Amino acid sequence: MAGQKNEKMEAIVSLAKRRGFIYQGSEVYGGLSGTWDYGPLGVTLKRNIMQLWWKMFVDSRDDMYGVDAAILMNQKVWQASGHVDTFVDPLTEDLVTKRRYRTDHILKDKGIDPTGMTMQEMDAAVQEHDIKSPDGNPLSESRTFNMMFTTHVGPVADDKSVSYLRPETAQGIFTNYKNVLDAFYPDLPFGLAQQGKAFRNEISPRDFIFRSREFEQMEIEYFVHPEKWAEAFDALLVDVHAFLKALGLPTEKIHELEVPAEDRAHYSERTVDIEFDFPIGREELLGLAYRTNFDLSNIQRMSGKGMEYTVKGTNERFIPHVIEPSFGVERALMAVLSSAYTEDEVNGETRVYLRFPEELAPIRYAVSPLLKNKPELVAKARDVYALLKTKYGNVMWDDNGNIGKRYRRQDEIGTPFCVVIDFETLEDDRVTIRERDTTKQTRVAISSFK
Ligand code: GAP
Repeated sequence: MAGQKNEKMEAIVSLAKRRGFIYQGSEVYGGLSGTWDYGPLGVTLKRNIMQLWWKMFVDSRDDMYGVDAAILMNQKVWQASGHVDTFVDPLTEDLVTKRRYRTDHILKDKGIDPTGMTMQEMDAAVQEHDIKSPDGNPLSESRTFNMMFTTHVGPVADDKSVSYLRPETAQGIFTNYKNVLDAFYPDLPFGLAQQGKAFRNEISPRDFIFRSREFEQMEIEYFVHPEKWAEAFDALLVDVHAFLKALGLPTEKIHELEVPAEDRAHYSERTVDIEFDFPIGREELLGLAYRTNFDLSNIQRMSGKGMEYTVKGTNERFIPHVIEPSFGVERALMAVLSSAYTEDEVNGETRVYLRFPEELAPIRYAVSPLLKNKPELVAKARDVYALLKTKYGNVMWDDNGNIGKRYRRQDEIGTPFCVVIDFETLEDDRVTIRERDTTKQTRVAISSFK
């Protein structure tokens, strides 16, 4: 990682904490690695991203259905899906400190690309290049480590009560496919969408919220006729790019990676990862996978319940195939934050601002009286505030410090518009609107907000 990139990341992490976006989880007790808490602005930004996704992928389409499944599921779900056996990462141990690392990360950090390597090949590369742990000690041979968090449901902790915190939201969709089919019987193709928490006991969580142990996903399982998977794949890839555009991510920072067979998840016959140029480097933002009928076939086999689809008015029956766009909310948020983070110069001073698209900004308008000790200005400003608050909700009252300071504070949290009520307003019912990106000020009629 180049120093400059680190500096940008550090500036973002520091701003995120200082201004109430994101905090280390359990910070007051020294933290819990891989967990993050969202403050008042962070939770709104995150929800705005999730709502935009829901609007674009569910509400505005007639081929999508939303679900919200339980996080704890019957252990058979994870046996059938292959996660109990194969949801593993390669783990190596510092033979002196006993600290544990992901072998592929150790290689990557030394500039060796682990793509396509088996665990044995990774160990051989560690030997060949005489790679030591970050503390300079020898490393053990790698072993596999299952990333699912295990728990027990009910008061008895035995094999039968084992459950897992879900490592993907996808299985909560597959297990509800039949329920939705029975209730709605949609024509193919159709999709089921879900947003919610996922948990992975990552060996080395790192890079702020990028690799967390508790995070959120937004996933779609799109059910198609087995012969029509390729066209659905292409169409969903277009929709994915439209969403990234709506997030305000610059096109030149978005890259498609055709994932080679040896690096695909066990269920996938084609995967395109969308990578993004984060300040930490180019990394996976989301994935689009062709999961065939792997999951529904396994559910049919394990549960004994039929998962077949009969095309209406025909005898044609088959288990549908599936295309899965899988988004990580934290990664989308980190991409939005890092794209929005901007420094420029205003009146000879460095200014930091977050150039969020209007729909994502945690605060849409900040409303101020020019002077806070003039009751007639305050009363008028309160009226304008109430008007905007009723319309948008995410509107802030800000009368602290002088106007210049208010603008800087709002710039730093990405508020697109500051509205100022001055003495002229009392005469003409017009206010000053100051735009975040250009710092341009214009006068508009209060009636235009209605
Ligand atoms: N259902 C498919 C699935 O879960 P994945 O590639 O393992 O596929 C999908 O995960 C997305 O979830 C990733 O592209 C990423 O955005 C997000 N994600 C995965 N692990 C994560 C982690 N530890 N922290 C934050 N986001 C993560």
